[in-house]
Amino acid sequence: MIKKGIILAGGHGTRMSPLTKAVNKQLLPIYDKPLIYYPLSVLMLAGIKNILIIVNKGQLEQFKKLIPSGKNLGIKIDFEEQLYPGGLPEAFIIGEKFIKKDNVALILGDNFFYGQSLGIKLKESTKLKSGAKVFLHKVSKPELYGVAKINKNKKIIKIVEKPKKFISDYAITGLYFFDNKVIKLAKTLKPSKRGEIEIIDLLNKYKNEKKLKADFIGRGGVWLDTGSIKDFYNTSTFVSTIENRQGMKIACLEEIAFYSKWIKGEEIQNAIKFYGKCDYSDYLKKIIN
Ligand code: G1P
Repeated sequence: MIKKGIILAGGHGTRMSPLTKAVNKQLLPIYDKPLIYYPLSVLMLAGIKNILIIVNKGQLEQFKKLIPSGKNLGIKIDFEEQLYPGGLPEAFIIGEKFIKKDNVALILGDNFFYGQSLGIKLKESTKLKSGAKVFLHKVSKPELYGVAKINKNKKIIKIVEKPKKFISDYAITGLYFFDNKVIKLAKTLKPSKRGEIEIIDLLNKYKNEKKLKADFIGRGGVWLDTGSIKDFYNTSTFVSTIENRQGMKIACLEEIAFYSKWIKGEEIQNAIKFYGKCDYSDYLKKIIN
């Protein structure tokens, strides 16, 4: 079982400057809560309770004001700082002491997932014993992402980062499950032309050993990107539409923890005090009533 997860919330968020000049992108709002709540909720829905959040150097205090330790959610959250954004696989080098001998999940801090059977799929993925697993999703602009070509049996036969020529419309989403070899493999990667070590090179190492598996979010599931300002606001609009229509929140961390029986009503009461008078607190009140 994978019991540990990393959220990579580093990066300068340059595409969203000036919004990101003083504040980490993951702390900006996607509708009614900070972006970081969404990837964190994904790990929690996977049943992962031991989480490392990697943030930019100098931004630790911002995060700690919002998410001190995870104790309020019945989970454990640690932080590490990234001195310079040197590529996604750095998460496993920075996180080496956190991962120890275990397998680990990685989610990118700006990825948004939503869907009916997501929790079941996520929990299934934590059963990974060896190799690596990625989640694929169809997109209309595959050239913007890491892309996987699959065969009739839904096995990955080729993966390419931001292909200029079309190979497949299955994007590799920013949610990955790895065995413990990932630490060793991440250390062997050489920087690409853009000067970073690349997740695609890491995944290719698993693929070459026939150890890269694919799962699919499926048509009924949603994967959104919050990379550019436009995508960011589109995601925010999506959340607002669903929440206002259904009266249920997406990525309410306390709700997930409560229904997972990691916390009791008392912790929800504390959360209400912590957030103060707001819509989010009103929602929490409904949960315990
Ligand atoms: C990164 C990965 C890419 C993946 C994407 C998902 O891209 O390199 O393979 O599809 O995240 O969000 P980047 O955000 O660095 O452009």
